[in-house]
Amino acid sequence: MSVKNLVETLESLEKFTTESVHGVVSECDIRAEDIERWVDYDYPVSDSYGRKMVHNGSFFEIMIMSWRPGDYSGIHDHGKAEFGAVKTFGAAEHAIFKLKKQKLITISREIVKSGTTLKVIPSLIHQMGNPGESNFFTLHVYGNVNLEGGITNEARIFDYSRNELLFVNGGVFYLLSEDKIVRREELPEADYATWSRDLIEAAKRAKAMGNEPEYRRLMNEISSG
Ligand SMILES: [Fe+2]
Repeated sequence: MSVKNLVETLESLEKFTTESVHGVVSECDIRAEDIERWVDYDYPVSDSYGRKMVHNGSFFEIMIMSWRPGDYSGIHDHGKAEFGAVKTFGAAEHAIFKLKKQKLITISREIVKSGTTLKVIPSLIHQMGNPGESNFFTLHVYGNVNLEGGITNEARIFDYSRNELLFVNGGVFYLLSEDKIVRREELPEADYATWSRDLIEAAKRAKAMGNEPEYRRLMNEISSG
């Protein structure tokens, strides 16, 4: 199936819900060759993963994310998206979090099989990554029928490495540069599993970026935490 067909199928839906969009994305037979022009593993090391807009319609958008071995997104939600779905084309790691009594806790962390379609509901706080040894990509659809663009604007990153809740209009990356941060709020506390893993992923990204001082700071914080 071409991207054009996928867009038309989504546009022809009578009702946009997480269920209906998930149904279309999970049943669409999009193959690697249909989207290869958006799959790009040559992104800067300061980007936690590759991110390309495929279709920026009025009320829904389609993106392709490219993941090199060891790439992880920050812990995040999806801004103003009311519905969404993510189809994996490789064995991705997927962790789900929940705010319980103002504390962020890890609910699950698992490797999902290639070809799985994950549901994105407005309250979803999650993290994706590539725990394997080869590249893969994922297809993302996000929408909000009451919007004209900017669907994932003001997505939140629960960033325990800088101890801030960040609002961003782009990639949910670790060690994000100041110019990408729209605003910030106080970060809720996290349980140990969530906090320590987040700092480890931030430290790995600092190392990959050649930021030795930040890598050492984070490793010290983990060992004293
Ligand atoms: Fe996400």
